[in-house]
Amino acid sequence: MEHALDITLSINGVEVSRRVAPRTHLVDFLRDDLGLTGSHIGCEHGVCGACTVRVNGDIVRGCLMLAVQANGCRVDTVEGLSDSKELAKLQKAFHGHNALQCGFCTPGMLMAAQDLVLQKKKFSREEIRDHISGNYCRCTGYQAIVDAIEEVIQQA
Ligand code: FES
Ligand code: FES
Repeated sequence: MEHALDITLSINGVEVSRRVAPRTHLVDFLRDDLGLTGSHIGCEHGVCGACTVRVNGDIVRGCLMLAVQANGCRVDTVEGLSDSKELAKLQKAFHGHNALQCGFCTPGMLMAAQDLVLQKKKFSREEIRDHISGNYCRCTGYQAIVDAIEEVIQQA
């Protein structure tokens, strides 16, 4: 691979080393190189939030970050947080409130919602809406998503 760079990073707690092209975006690396297709690609320019993942504890747009920028970082994806049961309450609430239809936005929405849940504050519906305003959903109208996130936040 021309001008490829070697990177080593933690993916969902597992150390991974790969050779990547410098222009490879993190979400493409996760999906194409590692087969972690839970993070979706929508707009590819930082607007829709479908590609949201966690890097060193902060949620980021996987389509705006290069894989090489994640060298040495800890990256958590929806697969990892699902396997560890970190997302279990949100997943149950989304299911219970019918907060998904096609499901395309759901991985990114869950990652953004969990970022709020981890702050352990009783956020208002307005604050919840504000927090997920960078995650687009074409199907649900958001009401059920806010209901689900609010339910989990009330339990915290
Ligand atoms: S695909 Fe990254 S924000 Fe839309
Ligand atoms: S459930 Fe279809 S885009 Fe959100």
